[in-house]
Amino acid sequence: MTDESPTYLPLLKRIAQGEAGAGQYLRAWADSTDDPDVAQVLNVVALRESEHGLAFEKRICELGFVLEPSVDAELAGKVEIAGSDRTDLEKFQDLGLAALLEPGEDTADPFPAMFEDNSIDIQTSALLGRFVGEERDSGRLLLGCYQALKPGAKPDSMDEVTLADVCSAVEQLQGQVDAMQASVAELKAKPSPNGRARRKAGARKPSKRKR
Ligand SMILES: [Fe+2]
Repeated sequence: MTDESPTYLPLLKRIAQGEAGAGQYLRAWADSTDDPDVAQVLNVVALRESEHGLAFEKRICELGFVLEPSVDAELAGKVEIAGSDRTDLEKFQDLGLAALLEPGEDTADPFPAMFEDNSIDIQTSALLGRFVGEERDSGRLLLGCYQALKPGAKPDSMDEVTLADVCSAVEQLQGQVDAMQASVAELKAKPSPNGRARRKAGARKPSKRKR
């Protein structure tokens, strides 16, 4: 370990905070919808988002740094919208998800740019790879859900995702989230691997690093 902050630390922090926030409002939505099919999809995606938040916080912790609390000014509003009595279709629209999912919108893939930094270590690369795969699958799940809710949708348009598949995924994800929470709590309680107290990015003068 060096005293220098990895160049990709800000990316890890952005993902950790964004995913944790999305996990919060998707959980509020999953708990408030009357539609069991929508709830199942949201349960999977909310658990993934929360688990991503914890997994990236854990990685930041393992690298010897601290994740600061999120300063997302829009999060409280999103949680309010998600837990409100709006319809599920209105929530897709009011949370900005419909605009992201609608065909014809800008569909540029944001993920390849995350791998342009060639200094990313193996463990973080593996985490990013899993994250990207799950994010894309969550996008497909949400798109199927949104299309099924739109006026004129066929009633069976969510049949491609079976209830058993989703239930199994929810059970597996809940186990992962529980394990990740325990792991992050354990890491936070320990000193960093080099024996020094955990530090914030930029707190130390950068040292020379092997390229
Ligand atoms: Fe996400």
